[in-house]
Amino acid sequence: MQIVHTIKDLQLALSLIRQAKQAIALVPTMGNLHPGHLQLVTTAQQHADTVVVSLFVNPTQFGANEDLDKYPRTLQADIEKLEAVHTDILFAPNIADIYPHGSEHSTHVHVPGLTDILCGASRPGHFDGVTTIVAKLFNMTRADVALFGEKDFQQLAVIRRMVDDLNIPINIVSVPIVREPSGLAMSSRNGYLSAQQRQLAAAIHPILLTTQQALIDGFSDIDSLRDNAAKSLNDKGFRVDYVHILQRDHLKPATKKDKELVMLIAAYLGSTRLIDNITISLP
Ligand code: PAJ
Repeated sequence: MQIVHTIKDLQLALSLIRQAKQAIALVPTMGNLHPGHLQLVTTAQQHADTVVVSLFVNPTQFGANEDLDKYPRTLQADIEKLEAVHTDILFAPNIADIYPHGSEHSTHVHVPGLTDILCGASRPGHFDGVTTIVAKLFNMTRADVALFGEKDFQQLAVIRRMVDDLNIPINIVSVPIVREPSGLAMSSRNGYLSAQQRQLAAAIHPILLTTQQALIDGFSDIDSLRDNAAKSLNDKGFRVDYVHILQRDHLKPATKKDKELVMLIAAYLGSTRLIDNITISLP
């Protein structure tokens, strides 16, 4: 694996690949890699000849009271994991290279509407940070394809919308959620949980599955399903941020006519914010 730390070195490496007419896949990450991230890499290998993983803890997507400072930085372990799955290039830039004019005083990308709801409502400015860094990474790499996890369902929708709105010539591929054997969706933030909280966190997935089954079985009172799920989480000791059942493609409130849905949950255990979701196809 080639490790590059500057945009200049990245572009030098990629120009050789492009000359050889090889397709390039980009997997953007913030590091502290787990099998969910590595699944993006192995899926990327099916879509391109060369896979670039970017590793950058992007400050502009963290709110003032969020976990930027304590976000886990584990570069050496990440390098070993990426080598084990035969990643071609790791791009691990420093902040001055990414935001030479300072992160507060640079052009940013804003996707309206989709970013006002769900995590966007709870984390103002978060998605502007995400779309800006992702657009920058798309421009730096000029990748043919980029891979994102369905774990961050809203992020995926926002990025697809940005690509569509700005005519960015890249193909977005999504990868299903990778879970622990307990059902807990893998996340770098799971490391903040105590052993007891981790056990409790496994309760999210069964609630998603039960609601999915109820909808498939024809129970159509979405509001009561939503309220039951939220109550069940609160009773277990979570502090629910939101539970929503929405149209899968537009993230708008689902009506009785909609068949392709998504249920999304964000809930705190202590100070750790967990998100999860499940897609639902009604017969
Ligand atoms: P990060 O949280 O490191 O996630 C990087 C990618 O891994 C995202 O596309 C995310 O959806 C995916 N991912 C995380 N956990 C997953 C799981 N359990 N199963 C499948 N995919 C999973 O998301 C970000 O970083 C940042 O916002 C980023 C896009 C890199 C921009 O800074």
